[in-house]
Amino acid sequence: MRRVLLWMAGNRWLRRHLPRLWFARRAVRRFMPGEDVDAALAAGAVFERESIVPIYTRLGENLTDIAEADVTAREYHDLLDRMADAGSRGEISVKLTQLGFDLDAERTLDHMRRLADQAATSGGDVWIDIEGSAYTESTIAFFERLKADHPNTGICLQAYLRRTAADVQRLLPLDPGIRLVKGAYAEPAEIAYQSRSDIDANYVALSVGILGAVAAGRRVRLGLGTHDVRLIEQIAEHAAALGLARNAFEVQMLYGIRADEQRRLAREGFVVRDLIAYGAAWYPWYMRRLAERPANVLFALRQALP
Ligand code: FDA
Repeated sequence: MRRVLLWMAGNRWLRRHLPRLWFARRAVRRFMPGEDVDAALAAGAVFERESIVPIYTRLGENLTDIAEADVTAREYHDLLDRMADAGSRGEISVKLTQLGFDLDAERTLDHMRRLADQAATSGGDVWIDIEGSAYTESTIAFFERLKADHPNTGICLQAYLRRTAADVQRLLPLDPGIRLVKGAYAEPAEIAYQSRSDIDANYVALSVGILGAVAAGRRVRLGLGTHDVRLIEQIAEHAAALGLARNAFEVQMLYGIRADEQRRLAREGFVVRDLIAYGAAWYPWYMRRLAERPANVLFALRQALP
């Protein structure tokens, strides 16, 4: 089921037609407050009142016209302006392919540098999402260049990839922001762990390794990008054993998933962030959410009922 849904995520015909179905539009609302920036900011303001700081991402990926990258960058700049005006501590998270990475990587770097400059004026970081394995090396190399002159940047890494332990070692000297996720794409066994237990074990090992570096004095901003509360609690115990406080790392979850746990963790003293996606290009992203939990397909189909 997971593989079928991930195949559907990449299918161009479905990408064009499925989002037109009214019940799909209704179902996606579970994971997205709305398609426009006003809806996203309104949802973020609610979280911020509960000490859960939002991270916003405008949906879209693998664009084919470089002019669209400029439009997307402009929208992120406007979003940063609006957050600054509202006194929000929110941040942004960007997919490189939505800023033209496939077409002109230097232009993408210019865009990211300007976004990081603007975010720095209000003390925020800019995050880079990580996409399928075809982009892993180029995204990490891109991050190294960006981070060299823009300290307020972070990157997402995937615990299902066998290479990630080496990537963490490679990045640690940069004092990076690292959001660790399990990984949302279909990847082959040669490069990615396949079983849940292997992925979870690697997730814990990577997190504990990074926390060990923090305890030794590295200034890494670690975000546990997972809804797996059991893993979060396990990692929190390791952090405590290393003499680290709960705020030595943060928990990052997606809007609409385990909102009750997000609030509970925030009340218990964890630093919690909620990633809010918005935009019209939600199809591939939404299909990945269904693939993470095929029970969500039933929810989506139920939206077709009166
Ligand atoms: P797991 O899948 O084991 O789920 C744990 C529990 O969480 C489930 O039992 C269920 O209760 C709940 N849950 C998880 N997913 C759900 C869903 N879709 N619907 C309902 N309940 C769900 N991936 C990537 O490849 N590149 C990226 O840049 C990012 N960025 C990113 C940012 C943030 C903040 C998060 C939280 C996640 C990502 N991801 C990502 C997605 C990530 O790789 C992964 O696919 C999902 O987080 C699901 O895995 P979990 O770690 O939540 O664990």
